[in-house]
This record gives sequence, C-alpha cells and structure tokens, in this order.
Amino acid sequence: MTENPFSLAGKTILVTGASSGIGKRTAIESARLGADVIISARNLERLEETRLAIAEFGKEAVVIPAELTSAEDVESLVSSVPDLDGVVLCSGKGLTLPVQFASRDKFDEMFSINFFSPVELLRLLYKKKKIKKEGSVVVIASLGGTSVYSGGNSIYGASKAALNSFMKFCAKEFAARKIRVNTICPAMVETPLIHRGTVSDEQLQEDMKRYPLKRYGQPEDIAYGAVYLLSDASCWVTGHSLVIDGGLSLQ
Ligand SMILES: NC(=O)c1ccc[n+]([C@@H]2O[C@H](COP(=O)([O-])OP(=O)(O)OC[C@H]3O[C@@H](n4cnc5c(N)ncnc54)[C@H](OP(=O)(O)O)[C@@H]3O)[C@@H](O)[C@H]2O)c1
Repeated sequence: MTENPFSLAGKTILVTGASSGIGKRTAIESARLGADVIISARNLERLEETRLAIAEFGKEAVVIPAELTSAEDVESLVSSVPDLDGVVLCSGKGLTLPVQFASRDKFDEMFSINFFSPVELLRLLYKKKKIKKEGSVVVIASLGGTSVYSGGNSIYGASKAALNSFMKFCAKEFAARKIRVNTICPAMVETPLIHRGTVSDEQLQEDMKRYPLKRYGQPEDIAYGAVYLLSDASCWVTGHSLVIDGGLSLQ
C-alpha cells in the first residue's frame, strides 16, 4: 500500500464512457491522483478532449475507441488493454418513456448498452485475467435502479437494477482473486445525458428543488466516489452500492 491510501499512483485504470460526463471526469480525477488511464468510448473527438485534460497532469492517456454493443469491439478492447488495477464501467444512456410505450425493442436497445455491454466486458476482462489480484471494479448504476425517483424511467431503471444485482454476484465470485466490485448509484447529475430526453430545462430546475442539498450532482461528485472505490482506502469494501444523491433518498 502506498503512503497515501487515497493515491492512485502506480495503478492502471480502464474507464469506459470516458468521452463525456461522469466517465470523463472519473478518468481525469484518476489521472490527477496518479493513475495511468486507458479511456474508451465511441466519439474520437470527445475522447481527444479527455486525453488533453489528462495531459495537464503530465499523464499520457491511452485512447481505445470502442462501440461496446459490438462483440468484436469488446473483444478487441479486452485484448488491447494491459493488466489492470482498476476498471470503471461508465458507458450508458438514458431513456424516459411511459410504460405503455415500453416495447420489447426499447428494452433490447437499453439493455444492450446499459446491461449486456458492461456485463460482457467485465466477464471477458475477468476470464482473460486482465484484472490484477486486489484490483477494483467500479460500475456506474443509478438510484433509478433501486427506487422510482423520476417518472418514465421504467426501462432505464430495470436495466440499472439488473446491473446492480449482477455486480453483487461478481463481487462474491471475484473475491476469490481479491478483486473488489462495487456500484455507484447517483441521482440526477448534470451531464449531456439528462438533457437529451423529453424533459425541459424548466422541469429540471423545478425537480432540483426536491433535493435536500438543492442541486443536481456534478460529474466530479460521482468521480470522487469512484476514485475512493478504486483506491486502497476502500480495500475492505466490496459488493457495496454507494448512493450519491444530494440527500434525495432521505425523503
Ligand atoms: N447523468 C445522470 O443523471 C446519471 C444518473 C445516474 C446514473 N448515470 C449513469 O452514469 C453513466 C454515465 O452517464 P453520463 O451522465 O456521464 O452520460 P453521458 O455524458 O451521456 O456519457 C455517456 C458515455 O457513454 C458512452 N457510450 C454511450 N453509448 C455507448 C456505446 N454504445 N458504446 C460505447 N460507449 C458508449 C458515451 O460515449 P460516446 O458517445 O463517445 O460513445 C459517453 O462517454 C451512465 O451509465 C448513466 O446511466 C447518469
């Protein structure tokens, strides 16, 4: 263990969804704390922005573009990465839709990126022994997977509930190699994801008032939780779902 248990110096960490929002911030904060970072997503231009932000901390991030719903891309990502001390599975997307329109094709689309992609990537990383002994896996799930905190998110919530459940089984099985697996369950965080749906900015401003801390999260609020779970400071924490929600679930 390093002198500072919160340091990520000497650790190699893969972050998916690193081109935007929570994943981008997590990759940057990981580098700031000393990690060597591998960043992945589909959009090369935005990945380049993340790479440049990381370079400010004197770190050269490795960029591996991947469409995580493609089996070929997932396999290629797994074979390209070196042995890892940490993995942050952050790619995903949102969907707001009333239940009467929640058809099978919508479930397939959402589960493909929010559930099957991180599950398959993690399965292969573990099977091919790419995650080192005592490594840490952090999965960005959602408060929407454990409670109904916003309307119209039935499919999204179901995909994150499934993810949360699966990761607890991983935590138990991967403990054999002392690999820890934890999820983070954020409430609403200011990223492009929450502005892509049908909810207006005025409705979001109104919704914010429900939060005891009177604001939505910022990407760094979640990234700080992720870097704690990646660090040795959390070495006795596994199978945990860390709720980061500005106090919303107190109500
Ligand atoms: N924002 C919130 O309120 C909130 C709350 C709870 C949980 N979350 C979860 O946090 C995670 C990050 O979300 P965010 O808010 O940071 O959203 P975001 O800014 O939209 O970022 C989503 C990331 O996922 C990547 N991605 C999406 N589809 C992909 C695909 N098919 N293959 C590879 N990468 C893909 C995107 O990159 P490319 O487009 O470049 O591929 C992007 O980097 C998600 O899992 C989300 O469900 C967000």
